[in-house]
Amino acid sequence: MRTGREVHPIVQADVTLPGSADMSARLSDVRQRELPRHIAIIMDGNGRWAKLRGQSRMSGHHQGMEAAERIVRFVGEDLGIKYLTLYAFSTENWNRPPEEVQYLMDLIREFLDEKLKMLLENEVRLRVLGDADGVPAPIRAEIERAMKLTESNQRFHLNIAFNYGGRQEILRAVQQIVHDRLNGDLNGDPIDEALFRRYLYTADQPDPDLLIRTSGEERISNFLLWQIAYAEFWVTKTLWPDFKPEELLDAIEAYQCRQRKFGAVVEP
Ligand code: IPE
Ligand code: IPE
Ligand code: MG
Repeated sequence: MRTGREVHPIVQADVTLPGSADMSARLSDVRQRELPRHIAIIMDGNGRWAKLRGQSRMSGHHQGMEAAERIVRFVGEDLGIKYLTLYAFSTENWNRPPEEVQYLMDLIREFLDEKLKMLLENEVRLRVLGDADGVPAPIRAEIERAMKLTESNQRFHLNIAFNYGGRQEILRAVQQIVHDRLNGDLNGDPIDEALFRRYLYTADQPDPDLLIRTSGEERISNFLLWQIAYAEFWVTKTLWPDFKPEELLDAIEAYQCRQRKFGAVVEP
């Protein structure tokens, strides 16, 4: 049987920024205003993108990977935003056909193999958010290795949510807090928000300010349930493989026009 992986090897994506004057002007404008410190993206629509073209779902995931590389570069280099979280595989995605699950496992492995050097050269700290114990051992080993090797990098923080579920993350935090309390490691510390967030995968990071979902779906799908409490939500009908830096600028421009109130009364 031919696997999707053989049919669609990962190649270096064309990640150059479109050179139009319009794009540079927009980029410079958004950079002069307050940028989100952390962007989180639900990269949805790979399957539909492929179906529209009569291709396999694997082909959609392959193109989705290229779109992700393009966006990582744009966020880290052109926008200079420090934190980006990409949702790549949810705890519910195990319910997909085995060949597709296998392809997605191969894709993360290939990403870790091929991009580690680039991450190190660009001072990127990689964190894979999710239940590492639930992924096959060789992938878990590569995840741990990449996280360890990049752990002192500070320029840009790339989180890939893989075998990630918001409910699993919260349950895990509760279990660890109970464990630490019983062990006497928490002294008498109150279990408040500040303590709780220390037990999340994103422990020392700012919460996402901007949450983007592609493909027109308007739901959270178990993503960062705790962290997105006050994120600004932006949805586009664009299918993820077609998502381009121009559209990310649309999202940021919209974000910069929003008034964030955090529950308070704020005069316009
Ligand atoms: C998102 O695209 C990628 C993953 C969930 C891994 P989908 O594969 O969900 O694409 P659609 O929603 O079927 O179009
Ligand atoms: C969310 O997309 C998960 C990822 C993008 C990895 P899904 O396609 O799995 O979400 P649902 O099933 O449409 O809610
Ligand atoms: Mg989907």
